[in-house]
Amino acid sequence: MYKYHIVTYGCQMNVHESEKIAGMLVELGYHAVSSPEEADLIVFNTCCIRDTAEKRAYGNIGALKPLKKKNPDLMIAVVGCMTQQKNASNALLSKFPFVDIVLGTNSLDQLPILLQEKRQKGSLIRVNEDPTVDPSLELPIYRTSGTNAWVNIMYGCNNFCTYCIVPYVRGRERSRSLEEVVADVKQLISEGYKEITLLGQNVDSYGHDLSDGSDFATLLQRIDALPGKYRVRFMTSHPKDFDRRTVDVIASSSHICHNIHLPVQAGSNDVLKRMNRKYTVEQYLEIVDYIKSKMPDVGITSDIMIGFPGESEADFESTCDLVKKVRYSNAFTFVYSPRKGTPAATMEQISAAVKKSRITRLVQLQNDITKELSEGYIGGTYEVLIEDVNPKYPGTVCGRTDSGRLVTLTGSPDLIGSFLMVKITKARSAALFGEMIKE
Ligand code: SAH
Ligand code: SF4
Ligand code: F3S
Repeated sequence: MYKYHIVTYGCQMNVHESEKIAGMLVELGYHAVSSPEEADLIVFNTCCIRDTAEKRAYGNIGALKPLKKKNPDLMIAVVGCMTQQKNASNALLSKFPFVDIVLGTNSLDQLPILLQEKRQKGSLIRVNEDPTVDPSLELPIYRTSGTNAWVNIMYGCNNFCTYCIVPYVRGRERSRSLEEVVADVKQLISEGYKEITLLGQNVDSYGHDLSDGSDFATLLQRIDALPGKYRVRFMTSHPKDFDRRTVDVIASSSHICHNIHLPVQAGSNDVLKRMNRKYTVEQYLEIVDYIKSKMPDVGITSDIMIGFPGESEADFESTCDLVKKVRYSNAFTFVYSPRKGTPAATMEQISAAVKKSRITRLVQLQNDITKELSEGYIGGTYEVLIEDVNPKYPGTVCGRTDSGRLVTLTGSPDLIGSFLMVKITKARSAALFGEMIKE
């Protein structure tokens, strides 16, 4: 029996696609191994959102050369976003001629055929550089995510933020039909999954490409009406499309978590405009205020980027001001990384020293806020879905509050998958600690 090992980089979309790759391989009779040394097939599911993500993948693919020398039957496949960049697949093969298969994000379903063909031929490339094509990506799924199940509601992105490579490597927005998504969620709940995370680059524009009037708020309503004890999360929201109706649906729902990932990117209108984000700071704060007014217990998280071309010290200060106003429960902070082929890559760049100073200050600011918000949880009791053991503290398990905060408590692995009422007793920066309340 063949053995496979998958290395995944990038976002949840990729994590879920690795489950689809595994699904196809398991159908072919492969089984998973945890180390590349044992594998007959190693798959790299790549990301190209920032230079660091690409460098890491390149480094790790390069490191496989000796393994391939030792075992000439070993197959190496490189898939995912990196391969969809213009000419990237040829560049990849000339740098690493020992790679057997290069497969794009829109051609994943071809993996079984390529594995077969490859036994007779040299290196194979199957990427799709035409982003308007809509191949079917409904593949078998080998789920690895425990209590949570990912469900794609749409693929691709139409937004073309000027810094971002995603629309070029993932193609245009394609929504799955509402009935199909609802049926998937229903099936997963009946299989015992306690948390469903709906995935899309911009979930709020769900349905805009469908002709039946489906939209994200309606989809949430339909899912929320399914019976059972389960939670629904979703990502990512785009502030230009996240509307009051969606907030109302979440606020009045029984299953949709009060946890909203609403990436702001920057707190300066000038920078937002040049990023092509299509909202202003004022509009962003207005929707945040509305969310907080409807859901005082909400956890709002964000992606924030510093060092976008032309970002002045005043622009950066505006970003810090916004962070102080919103008080995110957590924020992913990034240093702008020029991506070839995107408009921002040709704009005048900021020096590395300035970027370093700004990211340090921003991270410090956000850490202080996260810590303050954590302390506010102490003494309160929250429902926590136990997701895993916490390997850092033997004898403990961990899970999330509805608002998305991670809580660790004493307990055994048989609690995984249960909803517990937990009293928070301690906070350490982003981490919360608590104890189970006996019924
Ligand atoms: N669709 C989502 C997430 C896309 S990628 C959204 O629109 O928010 C995740 C995050 O990576 C982005 O939110 C952005 O903050 C960051 N990112 C994207 N391109 C980047 C680049 N060129 N350099 C640095 N960070 C980037
Ligand atoms: Fe990239 Fe913008 Fe699309 Fe998000 S919305 S994937 S940041 S282009
Ligand atoms: Fe990376 Fe592709 Fe996701 S570029 S962030 S893996 S959509």
